[in-house]
Amino acid sequence: MNQPFTVAIDGPAAAGKGTISRAVAARFGFAHLDTGALYRALGVKGGDPVAAAQSLASEDLARDDLRSLEAGAAASRVAAIPEVRAALLEFQQRFARRPGGAVLDGRDIGTVICPEAEVKLYVTASAEVRAQRRWLELGGDPAQVLAEVRARDERDMGRADAPLRPAADAVILDTSDLSIADAVALAVAEVEKALRP
Ligand code: CDP
Ligand code: CDP
Repeated sequence: MNQPFTVAIDGPAAAGKGTISRAVAARFGFAHLDTGALYRALGVKGGDPVAAAQSLASEDLARDDLRSLEAGAAASRVAAIPEVRAALLEFQQRFARRPGGAVLDGRDIGTVICPEAEVKLYVTASAEVRAQRRWLELGGDPAQVLAEVRARDERDMGRADAPLRPAADAVILDTSDLSIADAVALAVAEVEKALRP
């Protein structure tokens, strides 16, 4: 496939966006961009986040401390700054419409980055299930992990610029009671439907 085809995957922390995105990208041969990594890289870098967003480099994305709870919290703080989001917009939009297909996962892909995406999924799960998943990955105090997940949800949904919400035409995928295989199968079915209507 040489034309653009965008799969937009949004949703709250630890809902399964990345897992589904990687599987869909591998299944269809699409490129994948984890847009949360952009904000995490800016969050851990420190200094002026707007200047950093304007000169984000691949080595910033290769740091091995990006997945921590602290990096997630720092990411959601810099992500509330409109100038930061503006500086990252064009790169993400170009990625979304590259020839050959692209999967992007984040918070505002279907609403702001690529409202014309051929497939829009809003992947979610209860806060308790999501905190349990994050705790299995990172360990630590389970109550603190749940509090962090809730605080990040609130910040991401409550900000003025590009708040987290499902696009009007997004398919909602609640993974609370789904295995990874079942969640991936539902996502793959949505992509197939759009590819061969
Ligand atoms: O990208 P996002 O933060 O939304 O979530 P993820 O990193 O894909 O998934 C968070 C964790 O939940 C991972 O360890 C996944 O293996 C796990 N997961 C799960 O247990 N069941 C699912 N249906 C999806 C993800
Ligand atoms: O994997 P997880 O869902 O925990 O987080 P992430 O996708 O890596 O995103 C980290 C933070 O970056 C989010 O909590 C948002 O504040 C921000 N973000 C955003 O504002 N817009 C995006 N498109 C992606 C992430």
